[in-house]
Amino acid sequence: MQVMNAAAEREAAGSDVLHLEVGQPSTPAPKGVLAAARAALDTNRIGYTLALGLPELRERISGHYRNWYGVDVPVERIAVTTGSSSGFTLAFLAAFEHGARVALASPGYPAYRNILKALGVEVVDLLTEASDRFQPTVARLEQAGPLDGVIVASPSNPTGTMLDEPSMMAITKWCRANDVRLISDEIYHGINFGLRSVSALESDPKALVINSFSKYFSMTGWRIGWMVVPPDLIDAVERLASNFFISAPTLSQIAATAAFDCIDEAQENVARYARNREILLNDLPAAGLGDLAPADGAFYVYANVARYTNDSVAFCRRMLNETGIACTPGTDFDPSRGHASVRFSFAGASDDMAEACKRLKDWL
Ligand SMILES: Cc1ncc(COP(=O)(O)O)c(C=O)c1O
Repeated sequence: MQVMNAAAEREAAGSDVLHLEVGQPSTPAPKGVLAAARAALDTNRIGYTLALGLPELRERISGHYRNWYGVDVPVERIAVTTGSSSGFTLAFLAAFEHGARVALASPGYPAYRNILKALGVEVVDLLTEASDRFQPTVARLEQAGPLDGVIVASPSNPTGTMLDEPSMMAITKWCRANDVRLISDEIYHGINFGLRSVSALESDPKALVINSFSKYFSMTGWRIGWMVVPPDLIDAVERLASNFFISAPTLSQIAATAAFDCIDEAQENVARYARNREILLNDLPAAGLGDLAPADGAFYVYANVARYTNDSVAFCRRMLNETGIACTPGTDFDPSRGHASVRFSFAGASDDMAEACKRLKDWL
């Protein structure tokens, strides 16, 4: 957020900015989604919905699991949420008691740790390495002491790395055997460049899965997502959701129902991300940044910058001031080691990727 503010200030002062800091698509929602929203404004009262969401949308989400993963997810287990962000709060509250211990990968998405801490849950950092694709492994879980929960994200933010099928299966199996609650953040599913996006539900029907329309369907500001909730937690999630939020935004729920008919448009965006990724993976090493996490999915490249700095915050500030490139320091993603890493987002325009690499080469 500080980088985005600094970039906005620079733009307001009349200087250009190449936006490689933003964690969201640069495209609007698919056309079918927009049409559904427009039609609903003319014909629908836009009142509250049931706490767990519109039945039509929950049906479509259930169908999505059949189509994409060959998995049967009963509609009763689906909760529509206000983005995946509200899903985290609901899931953590329903699944964990105050004082519980929950493991997650570092580097990882900062909101997990911040929400868990706010709820009095102890965060157990799994200090992952490039050699394990910055993803949790059974060996690291074994070393983590007694656990109540594990959070995985594949593809991950900020690294873009993924768990392949055997790695995901090993984790789901370990969690079941050790009675540890698994929460799988699958928000970047569909944005992958080789490896298939594997759902935790494929190997553990009782996993708690969190997903969203924000990234693949390019709908960040619509604030609409969903969870697949294990049977023992769905009642708690429904009660919490109805007290916290009453319902997810109704217009967005109606619009999102059309999203699953817009796969072609979403895939066009993925094709652009793939081109952008190629540019960064080719040109960043040539610019002097060769130590990159394997960018399996999402729209991020996580780069080790230890050669240049041990203060990634100052490094990003200087980069913005001196080159006009905005990118994100690793400190929020990895409190103990992020001072030597930065994240580049390739959700933006292809021309900006090429230009950023050119400027970086001169600057570094
Ligand atoms: C890994 C991950 N999970 C969840 C979110 C939250 O997304 P939303 O609340 O828009 O669904 C983000 C946002 O950047 C993210 O990167």
